[in-house]
Amino acid sequence: MAGLKAIILAAGKGVRMNSDIPKVMHAVCGRPMIDYVLDAVRLVGPSKIYVVLSHQNEAVKDHLGKNIEIVIQKELLGTADAIRSAQSRFKGFKGDVLVVCGDTPLLKSETLQVLAKAHAASKAACTFLTAAVDDPFGYGRVIRDDGGQVIAICEEKDLKQDQKNIREINVGTYCFKSEILFGTINSIKLNEKKQEFYLTDIIAMLSKEGKKIEGIKMASPVEGLGINTREELSQAGAIVRKRILKKFMAEGVTIVDPETTYIDCNVKIGRDTVIFPCTMIEGDVQIGKNCLIGPFCHLRPGARIGNTVEVRNFTEVSRATIGDNCFMKHFSFVGDAAVGKRVNIGAGVVTANFDGRQKNFTQIADDAFIGSDSILVAPLKIGKKAITAAGCVVTKNSNVPAGSVAIGVPAKIKTRRK
Ligand code: UD1
Ligand code: MG
Repeated sequence: MAGLKAIILAAGKGVRMNSDIPKVMHAVCGRPMIDYVLDAVRLVGPSKIYVVLSHQNEAVKDHLGKNIEIVIQKELLGTADAIRSAQSRFKGFKGDVLVVCGDTPLLKSETLQVLAKAHAASKAACTFLTAAVDDPFGYGRVIRDDGGQVIAICEEKDLKQDQKNIREINVGTYCFKSEILFGTINSIKLNEKKQEFYLTDIIAMLSKEGKKIEGIKMASPVEGLGINTREELSQAGAIVRKRILKKFMAEGVTIVDPETTYIDCNVKIGRDTVIFPCTMIEGDVQIGKNCLIGPFCHLRPGARIGNTVEVRNFTEVSRATIGDNCFMKHFSFVGDAAVGKRVNIGAGVVTANFDGRQKNFTQIADDAFIGSDSILVAPLKIGKKAITAAGCVVTKNSNVPAGSVAIGVPAKIKTRRK
């Protein structure tokens, strides 16, 4: 969008999270919340995005990498002070400034676009998003005059008794005329109760100057959820999870029980795959077409499942590839491994991948048959059409050549009778 720059406020300590991790790095369905906000803002198309961070936010800085312009807020003196720390970057800029809080990960880009367009089309000094919610506690409330015109935003601690039941909240997402924002921001006074400079005080100041303020009520108030506590983090997780599952179902994946299915946002799943209850699929997992996954299956980062594969009751796959047409039906763990095609992984099979110091790799070639309760101590290679007999322990580096059989504890390798 021409004439639009964005600021994402993400320097806050996140005190209410009670955490050593910066608030915006807490994950919602496998992804730090700041990434959701960045994606939504990027799609609006501002010419620049500045993320305000504090000196303590090294982890966020590392995560964002070099392509994002970071502004450091020296002391955490509130949201107005956060905006002030970006002031020098806006010298001479005459366009609009989109301001979004880094802790509102449910905001959709479409909603931000509606805001930016409405602001550009109106003569308002500030246009901001509001939401009517059932429980407004903790949010800034939108104060309107008798004619319905916004005249102020009042923070929870400063509310008068009769204002506490106002259900229209400030989402923390604003579009300002740049010159008006930066022309006024330095006049915001310290809030004595909280010892912070509130960005929200700007609304009453502009209103008193007779400038036009527009509060746009969001069609879907849930998007306005601000994450300040672990409880809100879990609420956001539940909402994003529903969005993810809905998308998969629209794409032709059966989710038998959405209530007990946990799939992270970067997972890929092919058509006609069925996900059974109590299944968790984390990180960057990819699953092909026509698979049966779960119930009670845990697919962890790095799992790559081919087409027409069954990974079923009480199974775990981690950093491993499972080729097309494999069966892994009960009680087994495959980690740090490459499994070929048409391999049967019997009940209770374990790749013993960790030797106490490092993770080791297991390779299982096409058409191998891994008998029930086989323990495969990595590093190890199992050849094509090889068999491991039930209950064997194949010790590390005791590679099982193609077509041979491993039997016993520790396993002896024998050639197979035809
Ligand atoms: C803020 C708004 C409130 C709104 C709510 C929506 C103010 C004063 N209040 O309250 O009206 O209803 O968001 O979720 O703005 N931050 C900084 N530097 C600071 C302080 C905060 O960058 O010094 C960042 C935080 O990282 C966060 C955002 O600003 O992403 C909002 O701060 P937070 O402390 O969460 O404000 P709320 O109490 O939620
Ligand atoms: Mg907040």
